[in-house]
Amino acid sequence: MNKLYLWGIIIIASMLGFTYISVIRSKGGLNGDIINILTIVGAVALVIITVLVVIKYVRQMQTDTADGELVDQTWDGIGEYRNELPFGWAISFLLTIIWGMWYFTVGYPVNAYSQIGEYNEDVVVHNNKFEKDFNEKMANFSETQKAEYMINMGESVYLAECKICHGLTADGIDGKSTDLNEWGSAKAIVDVINNGSKGLGYPLGEMPAGTASGADALDIAIYVKNGLSGETGSEAFAVSCASCHGADGKGMGGMSPDLTTYDMPAFTVDVLNRGKKGAIGEMPAFNRLNDKQKEAVGAYINSLSE
Ligand code: HEC
Ligand code: HEC
Repeated sequence: MNKLYLWGIIIIASMLGFTYISVIRSKGGLNGDIINILTIVGAVALVIITVLVVIKYVRQMQTDTADGELVDQTWDGIGEYRNELPFGWAISFLLTIIWGMWYFTVGYPVNAYSQIGEYNEDVVVHNNKFEKDFNEKMANFSETQKAEYMINMGESVYLAECKICHGLTADGIDGKSTDLNEWGSAKAIVDVINNGSKGLGYPLGEMPAGTASGADALDIAIYVKNGLSGETGSEAFAVSCASCHGADGKGMGGMSPDLTTYDMPAFTVDVLNRGKKGAIGEMPAFNRLNDKQKEAVGAYINSLSE
């Protein structure tokens, strides 16, 4: 028998063997996925067609004497025949294109499934369940119990997510991050006034250092710490701070931080939503925490500085 046919038979037989092992022996075939089975069968068919076409042309090259129409150009006396597109090749090419379109639109539509999508769906389901359980619990609590519950929950979140950078006692680990026992206190506000602040990504950008000083700075700090109430510091605030934070301190509709929430969980929630690339270092945003968890960890941090 011609050697060429022998090779053809070997290749086809091994492809059929492969199909047999992968499709038929795995009972139901590749987890019973009909599209994968069809893909493999299609691949086998393509290989068989290719082998047959190659055999046909190699044999033709061995036996045929050249005839046919030459193209007009010659290259150093070497000419070239006008060749028809091989029929088998053309068919395979066409079928592959049709298969590709079918695969991406009907078989496995490209936008039908993604692991990220599945993860996001899981998160939504979990958060809904979390919120339902949370609300049920809260409904039976007194105000003190509610506050205590938030702080305890916040401590768990803190230990899981924040401890690595802020330390077990939230002291900021030798200045590697913010000391959260201090943060939010009048002293910390004086520090902000003296040193400025940057990295929360507000439209106004950086807060410059030294917008107030001396006794004014301390008065303003107390004023801000008290939720912008009282006489002390209110005038100095209007002079030194209102231009960026607004006369009411609310941040002029998102241009700068809302200082009325500075000593409340809401400010921490804002920091967690934004992250901070500040003078000390980089704190990542915490989008993986849900709203209640952010609020709880804020309540925990507030409980530290009281
Ligand atoms: C030139 C505009 C500007 C002025 C004036 C200004 N601030 Fe700010 N302030 C900002 C901006 C912008 C931020 C956000 C900075 C950041 O990204 O950390 C900010 C942030 C803050 C913060 C939050 C810091 C933190 O820990 O995240 C406090 C507190 C604050 N300002 C208080 C004041 C007080 C008090 C004054 C007046 C003495 C004042 N600011 C004057 C623009 C200003
Ligand atoms: C990868 C380290 C890292 C982790 C994790 C981290 N932080 Fe921070 N955090 C920092 C750094 C660094 C700063 C100081 C940023 C600056 O001002 O330069 C900071 C600052 C802060 C501030 C002060 C922000 C301000 O406006 O001045 C708060 C509040 C805070 N972190 C809360 C948290 C909470 C809550 C968690 C856990 C959910 C947490 N951090 C997790 C590194 C971290």
